[in-house]
Amino acid sequence: MDHTIYLDNAATTRVDETVLAEMLPYLAQNYGNPSSSYSYGRVARIAVENARRSVAYQLGVKAANIFFTSGGTESNNTAIAAAVRDLGCTHIISSPIEHHAVLHSVEFYSQLHGVPYSMVAVSDAGIVDYDDLERQLKEQAAAGRKCLVSLMHANNETGSLLDVKRVGALCQEHGAIFHSDCVQTVGHYPLNLPEMGVHFISGSGHKFHGPKGTGILYIAPGLTVKPFIHGGGQERNMRAGTECVHGIVGFARALELAMEHYKTESEHIASLKAYMKKQLAANIPGVTFNGPEASLYTVLSVCFPKSEESDNLLLRLDMEGICVSGGSACSGPSGGSHVMRALGKNESCTTIRFSFSKYNTTTEIDHVTEVLKIALGLHTAEGKPATSAC
Ligand SMILES: Cc1ncc(COP(=O)(O)O)c(C=O)c1O
Repeated sequence: MDHTIYLDNAATTRVDETVLAEMLPYLAQNYGNPSSSYSYGRVARIAVENARRSVAYQLGVKAANIFFTSGGTESNNTAIAAAVRDLGCTHIISSPIEHHAVLHSVEFYSQLHGVPYSMVAVSDAGIVDYDDLERQLKEQAAAGRKCLVSLMHANNETGSLLDVKRVGALCQEHGAIFHSDCVQTVGHYPLNLPEMGVHFISGSGHKFHGPKGTGILYIAPGLTVKPFIHGGGQERNMRAGTECVHGIVGFARALELAMEHYKTESEHIASLKAYMKKQLAANIPGVTFNGPEASLYTVLSVCFPKSEESDNLLLRLDMEGICVSGGSACSGPSGGSHVMRALGKNESCTTIRFSFSKYNTTTEIDHVTEVLKIALGLHTAEGKPATSAC
């Protein structure tokens, strides 16, 4: 193909041209500091507060409950730190398939504050065992411990989805604080946060065609949380540091666009996923799919039977100008995926995550399928079935 095929949209996405156009003036002409009282500053302040109002509107909450951050990682860290430091949580319940931005934070703050944590059971497909969660919540409540439950809305590797409302209701029943890492779902689904029963959620702009280094933390009304970065009075004294005005503007515009075009874009992306699944099942013997049938529509996690050829798939695809990942981009090249390990997949599979965006096409998927057939030794480059040498 004449262009690079990008199928790693769960790692990051291309900034939408409209979003970029909206951001640029805040780097060039309107470069004022929002804390300055003169005209340039006022323009920047208005941009930040309009963005906050817009994000809040999209999520069904008040602007006062939205805090701009540097991304999903910071938001996750902040929520977990606040729950144990400021909200009296003395036990943390999470899951082994959370992003490292949650898992490593849980480990760190648990150790720092001497607060134990436990993991909820998950099925082979990555579905949280709600009965186990309820059992753990009851046990901790009976022991007089207040829990923080941190469970992600959608898994970034397998696409498995959490029934957030069910978890929200369980948390409410047992007096627990509920944080959900919604990095893969903000901008991908219309979310109404009060209906979800969450106390904190994290979102990240670069996952839905906004800029990198931008995120939000939602803090539910009525929670009193201490500042998470100390310094000036920005973000209502909660997060010091001059605001990333262009990033905040970009985040809000990207979310507006994503929600405005949600129906057509989600249908397009879901159809690409279904098409690729069908093509792979028809053309690659022994291929299976990770995660449950009903999963995040942007992610298709594929298990290729282990072989010498499948071990080199990522490299072969890269050489052919196809960008995909073996798991989370943040896991780095070594160590494999903790999610796949938790689901017991590492032994039998070479896992490749294909993740789609509004910019992908079926022609790209046809091309990737052909490349896969050649790379796995099923076809020659001339398109003929490969014959065994022995
Ligand atoms: C589920 C999940 N949580 C958190 C993060 C971290 O977000 P950010 O890159 O904005 O720090 C990611 C990004 O890969 C993610 O997929």
